[in-house]
Amino acid sequence: MINTDIATKFADRETPFYYYDMDVLARTLEAAHEASQKRGFHVHYALKANFNDVLLKRIQEIGFGADCVSGNEVRKAIECGFTPQNITFAGVGKSDKEINYALTQQIFAFNVESIQELEVINELASKQGVKANVALRINPNVDAHTHHYITTGLDENKFGVPNADLEKCASVLKKCEFIELVGLHFHVGSQITDMTVFKSLCVKVNEWKNWFEERGTQIRVLNVGGGLGIDYKNPDSNSIPDFEAYFDIFDRFLERKPYQEVHFELGRALVAQCGSLISRVLYVKNGVKKNFLVLDAGMTELMRPALYQAYHKIENLSAVETEESLNYDVVGPICESSDCFGKEVPLPDSGRGDLIAIRSAGAYGEVMASRYNLREEIRFVYSDQL
Ligand code: LLP
Repeated sequence: MINTDIATKFADRETPFYYYDMDVLARTLEAAHEASQKRGFHVHYALKANFNDVLLKRIQEIGFGADCVSGNEVRKAIECGFTPQNITFAGVGKSDKEINYALTQQIFAFNVESIQELEVINELASKQGVKANVALRINPNVDAHTHHYITTGLDENKFGVPNADLEKCASVLKKCEFIELVGLHFHVGSQITDMTVFKSLCVKVNEWKNWFEERGTQIRVLNVGGGLGIDYKNPDSNSIPDFEAYFDIFDRFLERKPYQEVHFELGRALVAQCGSLISRVLYVKNGVKKNFLVLDAGMTELMRPALYQAYHKIENLSAVETEESLNYDVVGPICESSDCFGKEVPLPDSGRGDLIAIRSAGAYGEVMASRYNLREEIRFVYSDQL
């Protein structure tokens, strides 16, 4: 529960807005930094989870690199202080314009997803007279046991170079004079809470690294992607993911030579728990079979429940906690039936004007917001500015 002192400070504010608890962010970043640093691991923050400037500056200050998926994300990362030599650029569909921009910035590596993309980067780099650093994204065919929309490492997904193409890829690479192969890249999916998935990933990384080395190609960087999940059910009692356990898996199961670096691309685990979407009850509607709480925030501000039927903890910050609770369908104002944050949510007796917090919304929240229904631009409140 967001504490009552803070909730009182929300009283005069126009809702909805994203509230960022900068203390939770700081503690999460420190835990991740310490656990990665002591193992010599490199973390690139996945901007796609949240590219809010204020958060980005904090993440940059702790010393993490950036993982970007568009030319604009690369530009944003540079503007927020990330050094280009710490930036990776991923994505199945990089445009020529985006590639050219990233080449001029001399970024750390392009994570390349197809043979055709390799050839295009080689050609564009030759025109600029520069060398492009590349990590080859290999589809590891490991099941992430997560929602099918956020599983990326299976043969049926569009991501990465298919295993059958790798032989050809290795020979194309030898001909690409303007490409320097720095490493291999893998990513199996997001919101992964079953740590054995990461152990299976290590086994695949070892296999593919050996495969390249047997063919005389040295691999300096092993980028194992992101995907570490968070506890959506317990945002207060379990607000910081177990980074020790996570990095320890890679430390124990990734075989590596002294010159080999291990890189990660964490998004959600770093920023999800510091964010909450704060909203007000507009109406309480007693339907035939249901009680509805109609909020002033909807799927336009937080899309995850509508898109993935994702669970987010919902709290009433204004009502008095009682033993008894009522079940509400908590919905937004958007003209779509999927505009629902939760069904049969137990909450204290709630009324018009009550403040509602939708928790664990710091990752894939404001970045996926839209102006559908010509909604207002999203607002923000940061705990250290209250
Ligand atoms: N690296 C690559 C190549 C990725 O595709 C992703 C996420 C990440 C790193 C960061 O993953 P994370 O550590 O955040 O799990 N919108 C969805 C999540 C989409 C994730 C896409 N890729 C959601 O709201 O759950």
